Amino acid sequence: MRFLRTGSMPTLAPVDDDSSGDELMTNAAPASNIRNTNHFSSCVGLSEMCPSDDESSESVVVGASPPHRRATALPPHLGHKKVLVTGGAGFVGSSVAMHLLARGDSVVIVDEMNDYYDVRIKENNLRRVRDMCPVDDPGRLVIYRGDICDEEFMLSLFEAERPRWVCHMAARAGVRPSIQDPYIYIHSNIRGTTHLMELSHKFGVENFVFASSSSVYGGSKSTFFSEDECVDNPVSPYAASKKACELLAYTYHHLYRLNVTGLRFFTVYGPRGRPDMAPFKFIDRVSRGLELQQFGDGSSSRDYTYIDDIVDGIVRAIDRPYPYQVFNLGKGSGNSLSEFISIVEKHVGREAIVKVLPDQPGDVPYTCADVSKAYDLLGYSATVPFDEGIRRTVRWYEDEYVKNICIEPETQANGMGRAASFAEIGSVSSIMPWINF
Ligand SMILES: NC(=O)c1ccc[n+]([C@@H]2O[C@H](COP(=O)([O-])OP(=O)(O)OC[C@H]3O[C@@H](n4cnc5c(N)ncnc54)[C@H](O)[C@@H]3O)[C@@H](O)[C@H]2O)c1
Repeated sequence: MRFLRTGSMPTLAPVDDDSSGDELMTNAAPASNIRNTNHFSSCVGLSEMCPSDDESSESVVVGASPPHRRATALPPHLGHKKVLVTGGAGFVGSSVAMHLLARGDSVVIVDEMNDYYDVRIKENNLRRVRDMCPVDDPGRLVIYRGDICDEEFMLSLFEAERPRWVCHMAARAGVRPSIQDPYIYIHSNIRGTTHLMELSHKFGVENFVFASSSSVYGGSKSTFFSEDECVDNPVSPYAASKKACELLAYTYHHLYRLNVTGLRFFTVYGPRGRPDMAPFKFIDRVSRGLELQQFGDGSSSRDYTYIDDIVDGIVRAIDRPYPYQVFNLGKGSGNSLSEFISIVEKHVGREAIVKVLPDQPGDVPYTCADVSKAYDLLGYSATVPFDEGIRRTVRWYEDEYVKNICIEPETQANGMGRAASFAEIGSVSSIMPWINF
């Protein structure tokens, strides 16, 4: 089975091509025939393609190839959906919401609008989402402001909206701030995700897709990260919270047969990107003539993924309700730090002032996503080269950010010390749709 590269619009359909000699799927058995395997016995949950009635049963097929190679890719669910997008005022959530509205779906957003970074950026994101909603059909978008951990609020939201599809992007993001304030990460990421899965199974949600992170690979010694790897050594509270979400997701799938997919994003960048992340910071600092810090000789390399590719992967996952899966979503190739800086210089049209500092302890020379599983089961592959992605991001920075938002980076992009406590967050929850932007 191969996928047409038609993007993640509802028209997407897998096509059979029996003449193809390089078929990636080696087993055409329906997913429901595939039993639990123990290929990843040290990584609970990553192996199960489909629930088995008999918990003691071994895999039907054993061999060196990873389980997903034996699985059948699901055809996408077509037609209209009402999707609950949590974190819909954030970078990724707002981008998914815009895509869903553009293709005709209905979207319910919930976001607490915390000040991890400047709230004006999130308000601007919501305005962009609202602009995507057709004026003659305003009911296709509802926005709520509130904490996903607020039980009363979220129960009322589910009762009022009855979403059948959940795209859970809300989280406290960022590695270093999680070391400063781990509790808020436990709250939003672990408790919040658990709460949403409780509601999702009670309200019969068809598919629960949530954002995990490449940071779960933090303690790994390898440089080409595959979902097969054991990720039992997270090196920050943020990474641990995402790994915990993956584990809890397996539990909800196991107990209630909730269809759950976790997506490990690799450094997402693009228009409206988070101001605490390197792609935004580099463009911002080079544009303003401020100094950049380069750790090491510039040869270290990372996998940067353009937002449109991530949105495409997320929507492909929403459309395919696998029983339980975890996928890497990355570009699948790395870019060195010095290449990164010179691409930014080219598109900004200004030379960077670079301060070279010694390698940071623990830095690894090359990290990159293995995206073959997402290709096999979702038909996902990134299409935007890094140079083109940075070009588009610089255009957005100059045409929209500088003109309409323009916040001083040094006070807004720290992501630390500005977080409201969850007690305060609870008090802003409101079951009334939030339209004050
Ligand atoms: N951007 C990346 O490079 C990247 C990489 C890996 C994983 N992720 C994950 O992707 C998801 C989206 O990331 P992003 O870059 O858009 O981050 P973001 O900070 O821009 O968006 C997250 C949104 O969630 C909201 N939120 C947080 N806690 C909440 C709560 N308790 N209740 C309601 N809303 C809450 C925030 O207000 C924010 O608007 C996150 O789960 C993040 O961990 C992102």
